[in-house]
Amino acid sequence: MAKLPWHLSGPLHVSGRSRFIGDEAPLSGMLYAKFFFSPVAHARIIRLDLSAAHAFPGVHAVYGAQDIPGQNMIGHVLKDEPLFPDSEIMFYGQPLAMILAEDESIAEAAAKLIILEAEELPPVFSIEEAERLKQWYIPERKIARGDVDDALNKARYTIHGQSYTGGQEHFYMESQRTRAILTDHDLIHLLCATQSTMEVQEIAARVLGIPAHRIAVEVPRLGGAFGGKERSATIWAVMAALGAFLSGRPVQVMLTRDEDMRVTGKRHPFLSNWKIGFDEDGKIKAWDIELMCNGGAYVDLSVAILERAMFHADNCYHIPNVRIKGRACRTNLPPNTAFRGFGGPQGIFTIESALGQIAKKLNKDPLELRKLNCYQNGDITPYGQKISETSALKMLEQVAEAADYQKLIHEVHDFNSKHEHHKQGLGIMPVKFGISFTTALMNQGSALIWVYIDGSLSVSTGGVEMGQELNSKVALIVQRVLGLSYDKIRVESSHTQRTGNASPTAASTGSDINGNAARIAAEKIRKSLSEIARIMLQERYEIDSEELVFADDKVFAQAEPDKSIAFPELVRRAHQERTPLGAYGYYATPDLYFDRDLGQGNPFHYFVYGAAIARVQLGLLSGEHEILSTHIVHENAQSLHPDIDMGQVVGAFIQSVGWCTMEELVIDTKGRYLSANPSTYKIPGVRDLPRDLRVTLQPSKSAQASIFGSKAVGEPPFMYGMAVFFALQNAIQSVKPEAELSFPATPEAIIRALN
Ligand code: MTE
Ligand code: HPA
Ligand code: MOS
Repeated sequence: MAKLPWHLSGPLHVSGRSRFIGDEAPLSGMLYAKFFFSPVAHARIIRLDLSAAHAFPGVHAVYGAQDIPGQNMIGHVLKDEPLFPDSEIMFYGQPLAMILAEDESIAEAAAKLIILEAEELPPVFSIEEAERLKQWYIPERKIARGDVDDALNKARYTIHGQSYTGGQEHFYMESQRTRAILTDHDLIHLLCATQSTMEVQEIAARVLGIPAHRIAVEVPRLGGAFGGKERSATIWAVMAALGAFLSGRPVQVMLTRDEDMRVTGKRHPFLSNWKIGFDEDGKIKAWDIELMCNGGAYVDLSVAILERAMFHADNCYHIPNVRIKGRACRTNLPPNTAFRGFGGPQGIFTIESALGQIAKKLNKDPLELRKLNCYQNGDITPYGQKISETSALKMLEQVAEAADYQKLIHEVHDFNSKHEHHKQGLGIMPVKFGISFTTALMNQGSALIWVYIDGSLSVSTGGVEMGQELNSKVALIVQRVLGLSYDKIRVESSHTQRTGNASPTAASTGSDINGNAARIAAEKIRKSLSEIARIMLQERYEIDSEELVFADDKVFAQAEPDKSIAFPELVRRAHQERTPLGAYGYYATPDLYFDRDLGQGNPFHYFVYGAAIARVQLGLLSGEHEILSTHIVHENAQSLHPDIDMGQVVGAFIQSVGWCTMEELVIDTKGRYLSANPSTYKIPGVRDLPRDLRVTLQPSKSAQASIFGSKAVGEPPFMYGMAVFFALQNAIQSVKPEAELSFPATPEAIIRALN
């Protein structure tokens, strides 16, 4: 196998040559869009006067709800979200009208001339208030087994608690954007920053009232997404499509950083109430939890996110009696949406908080407590999926060894006894994360391969490159099947007219789904080329062979590697023989199902396991902290590309540290995000990394793993960052045992917990 230079985007990114949608030169006649965003969070529209904006010099058009030729509906799951509201405004910053002008500053100036007359309605911003009003998108969901009430009554100990995790801004480098171009034959070509080409195509067609085949959606690459372009990109893409369709000119929609942070949805804040019952050893007998999330103004993906949180409320632990309830609350905030982990982190946080309290109550070692309750093979999750390849316990043991846990405990203890104003703490985070879209039908993908006459190859999948290096993995997969060197393989943009009906690149399944589809397409090509190769080997060397090898841009019989046919020769001959040189591959993940009414099924293809231990040091007077060390052991089966996977683990970890310790969303009384730019919203910088960060990628053999024995890597490592939160909690409790740290663990929160 060729060695691995195979980071297709790396050289482009570091030399500034990777091209994003906003990098393309302006098109002649292009109009620039700006929006009139609602200045109120909840109101009934009485009058929206667009006339002055319309008359402003340089303005080409102003469009609103009344101009939509098809359906004014961009909702997906519950069909509750209009493109422009025509009667009820649902959140501060909701776009009410779009201005198209010759340049952005004209459009922006004209937007200020729009007059809104509206009757304000009482807004709801918090989960508590939405709960009080029973403002839920759908009835309560439930997953249960055993007799929780009885088990709680009989348990030696019970603890009641409440946990809260906050939201998070995606802070992708590339803001939301789409360029819409009308091409010949009534096609609208959308160069679009979305994770979901199928959804943009379907919904743009619906809003314009035209067939989907007239909308071509293409994603060259994304400057980051993290879930923030799975659903949230659709509205902006449809705006651009509408603008081009109505005006007949190219249209560019591009949010500024401030606009993006103010008006787009974020990670869901979650609140949970729980009871946990356990015996004197710390063995958990009963876990009763209700999870509530702040979904914002429209359902978006809130129900699926709630469901994944419920699926992860057990984390790595086997508990005989369980009741997990979930409610998704409608509030007047921008619709919250997918964000790396997709509810998983929020679910896992609850049970880890509960375990922290058990350890404190029993004065038991947190690592031993976790090991005691870990899943074993043969155990069944509360939702009925059998655990058959768990390495949760192994990961915990391995990370304890890597971190020299016993020594850490002594060092921390020793430090704390000697220092009055600084305290250290440890946090442990085992992880089990389920891989597959929990909506089974989304687990399918397609790929299209062309081998061109000179032997070079182009592969398209529905997968979107967003920095996770999916393209590198797809190229590697094709390379493994056809034995071509890297410069012979080109991975194309994701484009609906080459790979239609693509599921979003999300749920960490990008390489599983698209990679398998590419493998299947490449195998078809290999099969038909093999027949031609056999003829050529017979003609040239009189070799009869069943077993052919495709390697190093050549094909040869296994027994006679010196007598080979060069790949380009083979391709030309195949063309002469009129053999197809294109192939379509289709893959659907097998054996997935889930019955939502029963709360039982097999929603995941497999689980990813790992564990982390973090050590922090806290200044009691300032509330500031430093992460002294973090050890991570991440089980990643037969990695397609360990370097890329390492980048994903480290990136996800520090993104999560941001979520847990510094990123705080603040709204004013009107429901307006005050944290709407980097000066008011702090994300981690390089100095926030642990002083000592050690990541071990642990190879393993898994019968359930996906493409070439690999496991997905995008989201699971996000969980490790929570080790830092719990380490801070631990440091605080060394001086004030009853203190509970609130989320996120900013210096202010730490000072509050200490006082
Ligand atoms: N890595 C980078 N650099 N940029 C991203 O936007 N998104 C994450 C993860 N890693 C993301 C990323 C999320 S939320 C998911 S679901 C996966 O990548 C999606 O890609 P994959 O399924 O191909 O791993
Ligand atoms: N993860 C990410 N995105 C999704 C999922 C999921 O489980 N389900 C629907 N969209
Ligand atoms: Mo990732 S949140 O599934 O896009």
